[in-house]
Amino acid sequence: MKNYFSIQDIDSLDHWVQEAIALKKDPIANKALGTDKTIGMLFFNPSLRTRLSTQKAALNLGMNVIVMNFNGEGWSLEYGDGTIMDQGTSEHVKEAAQVVSQYCDVLAIRAFAGLKDREDDYSEKVLHSFIEYATIPVINMESSAGHPLQALTDAITITEHKTVARPKVVLSWAPHPKALPQAVSNSFVEMMQKMDAEFVITHPEGYDLAPHIVGDTKVVYNQKEAFAAADFIYVKNWSAYTDYGKILNTGAEWKITADKMEGTNDAKFMHCLPVRRNVVVDDAVIDGDNALVIQQANNRTYAAQIVLQKILKTV
Ligand code: CP
Repeated sequence: MKNYFSIQDIDSLDHWVQEAIALKKDPIANKALGTDKTIGMLFFNPSLRTRLSTQKAALNLGMNVIVMNFNGEGWSLEYGDGTIMDQGTSEHVKEAAQVVSQYCDVLAIRAFAGLKDREDDYSEKVLHSFIEYATIPVINMESSAGHPLQALTDAITITEHKTVARPKVVLSWAPHPKALPQAVSNSFVEMMQKMDAEFVITHPEGYDLAPHIVGDTKVVYNQKEAFAAADFIYVKNWSAYTDYGKILNTGAEWKITADKMEGTNDAKFMHCLPVRRNVVVDDAVIDGDNALVIQQANNRTYAAQIVLQKILKTV
């Protein structure tokens, strides 16, 4: 595998998930695979889980790790072709990507959506530019429109915790005071479309995700109806796709409460984190026995490690 840009780069989901679960028994079994190889991790946005879990995965594989917070520390990058660079940008991505490729064997990048220009965000300019100009494999650590490491983690976690062959999984929008990207939700939707699950999306009207992502997945605008008989409730806020980047409705009534979870099939609660307690979800739910958020965070390491293993076998 050359790059891990989206979950479409997974050639066999079942195998990857089973490999990740097996890896947990002996995470350093493949330590020789990454010896004398270096991963460079470029962050244009903050992170806790992605940064530490990907580093941990690389260390489990014997790799060296270089981390750079690009915003404020790197030169501001130009992406336009033929731009006369007499304004704010100092370095073109053409050079930057090739330069990083001199020091590293694998590159991982986090670059969130700006939420101002939908076409620009969904063009995935930053990730696609690095993929185009770098001479080494590139891993998406959350881009404008996707978070495939998180989605692989979620597939692993659901597989580990499901009690029926085909669980009902609900992706529910929840309120948030800030406009957030659709990246996590997009990749989760794509992942559930690949898994054997009865999958339903629920959100207030106006928050429809991109039609090319949702496809024919069932969407229910009534949260209570969607939660009925659910085995997993996966919660995420996102800003509007149609009225792009806007918060249309503070939607406090969409917060996840213990009462709402009572209406499920004793569902597990999932969230990628970070989460705003008592805005997105009540303490009683996230502190309850059915919350899987820490197990998800733990699985981030194994998702990243599977991706790195696949890539290291090709470099
Ligand atoms: N879930 C996730 O990607 O967490 P971070 O933003 O902390 O990396």
